[in-house]
Amino acid sequence: MISVLFVCLGNICRSPLAEAIFNHKLKENGLTDKFKSDSCGTSDYHIGELPDERTLQCASDRGVAVNHRGRQINRVDIREFDYILAMDKANKKNIENLIVKYGVNHDQVYLIREFQPNAEELEVPDPYYGGMEKFEEVYEILDESISHFLQFLKQEHQMYV
Ligand code: 4NP
Repeated sequence: MISVLFVCLGNICRSPLAEAIFNHKLKENGLTDKFKSDSCGTSDYHIGELPDERTLQCASDRGVAVNHRGRQINRVDIREFDYILAMDKANKKNIENLIVKYGVNHDQVYLIREFQPNAEELEVPDPYYGGMEKFEEVYEILDESISHFLQFLKQEHQMYV
């Protein structure tokens, strides 16, 4: 089973949405049993909390199920997840610092927008202080990035479904 971890700062806006979109696409592609996914935050700000209302709204508008509680990234995550996808450069830097701190080898840490063709920039903007339109923008970025990430995974792992 291939494991994928989505990481943002608070784990209530971007990464739970990314996880939900990824799981939705796995279902559409008949690949659910080949993957395990989760999300977390680099901070401890929202541990145990449900995702932000606006993330839930964005997802439910599109028939995408979100099922998550906020949690902070830990040593086990770094050791066990095959792919770690960060939403922005600060998250990625924090993850890389943890990799060094815990003395783990990990060469599959990406910015999620590295998978988005022709991305205007490499970061998923933090929508926390924005309105609903910021969340809609984040959704579109994630949807496109994750579609292409899944194509990448299918090629890497020779899944021809
Ligand atoms: P997220 O958004 O990292 O996409 O979950 C944020 C949520 C909360 C905060 C910052 C970003 N905060 O500062 O509490």
